[in-house]
Amino acid sequence: MAQDQEKTQALGGLSREWQAEPMLGGWYTEEEIDAVVKAIRTSLDPSAGFGFFCDEILEFEQKFAEYIGTKYALSVTSAGTGLDVAVKALDLEPGDEVVVPAMNFRAAPYAVLGAGGKLILCDSDDTLNASPADVEAKLTSRTRAILVTHMNGLSAPMDEYMKIAARHPHPKYGPPKVIGDAARALGGGYKGAKIGKLGWMTVFSLHTMKMMTTLGEGGIITTDDPDLMLRLRALRQWGIAVSEDLEIARGKKGTGDMGWGSNYKLTKIQAAVGLVQLRRLDQMIAPRVALAKKRTEMLSKVPELTLPSVPAHCQPVYYLYNVLVPKKWAGAKRDQLMAMLRKEYGVDTVVANPPVYQTDAYVRRMTVGQSCPKAEELGARLFCPPMHPLMSDSDNEYICNSIAEAVKRLRA
Ligand SMILES: Cc1ncc(COP(=O)(O)O)c(C=O)c1O
Repeated sequence: MAQDQEKTQALGGLSREWQAEPMLGGWYTEEEIDAVVKAIRTSLDPSAGFGFFCDEILEFEQKFAEYIGTKYALSVTSAGTGLDVAVKALDLEPGDEVVVPAMNFRAAPYAVLGAGGKLILCDSDDTLNASPADVEAKLTSRTRAILVTHMNGLSAPMDEYMKIAARHPHPKYGPPKVIGDAARALGGGYKGAKIGKLGWMTVFSLHTMKMMTTLGEGGIITTDDPDLMLRLRALRQWGIAVSEDLEIARGKKGTGDMGWGSNYKLTKIQAAVGLVQLRRLDQMIAPRVALAKKRTEMLSKVPELTLPSVPAHCQPVYYLYNVLVPKKWAGAKRDQLMAMLRKEYGVDTVVANPPVYQTDAYVRRMTVGQSCPKAEELGARLFCPPMHPLMSDSDNEYICNSIAEAVKRLRA
């Protein structure tokens, strides 16, 4: 028997292969399948079709807003397009700056660059979220927004950014807008509210890998600001802000020239599935939280590892579970650990995410001269083992035992 197989079996082995970031973040039931069939059946009538202001989309948006606790929610085709729309709503002028954490997926930096903004990268703290101190250090009289990512399911400190923004008003537009990218953080909590309640607006992903999905792609934006909502609606659909059945259409606001728009709408069939997934969301999140708790108990016996640091007022959803190796293991030895886990134990891991200017050539070209030393350090120490709500306790144990044993071997 191969040496690698022996090791895997000695620790119990995995019941199945887990990708570090599984391609389906939740799961489907017969209810979603029935919802798809029903949505097609109700579209057979030529006067109905997949009509865009159908009950499914309106109900999905209303229920989503209720879940987050905001007045409004607007569905879009993805979090990527949602972020594009969010930054477009700022109406950036040449030279306007938006502060975005460097430790990030490329979506938020791309949204800023795509709208012609100047991308200003900021550093992170040990939670992997944007460091409030560095956000403040990066603000100038040109800053129009602070666009933060709630990394891997943990809320960023929104209150702090909002206080910082208030201290540094833009001369023409007032305090920079605080926008959240919660692509990985749907269902999480912050100071007694859901992530997505605070800030000017928050963008969620409904992509297949996320906490819930609308058939693989989708996104949704939440806000309490009615004027912003009208603008977002216009951006989403050809400059048309209102529809007869919307409460915000009252008062005839948003009926004139609402500027540019395109087509970023979710489909009826996706919304129908979204309604089911949203009802089941908490049920799909709870196992992640339970697995993370057990994982923390098991891995806390490994002195080298720094486990997720969770501020008392946050309820993370553990899209990913962040582990940091010691500073002196940063880079090569962390990579060795990850390779060992993959090859010898069958445990896949991912670094999510190193500073985006290190991984993305376009962002690097657009941010020449900028660097974030703490993000670089964290990016060289981080690895994320697989996490999925359908993972068994024994697979979780196997993953933890493998990590503990691999670290022990590297220690020696
Ligand atoms: C933090 C973050 N923001 C935005 C996105 C983009 O999401 P979508 O695939 O829905 O466009 C992702 C996708 O992985 C992400 O992780």
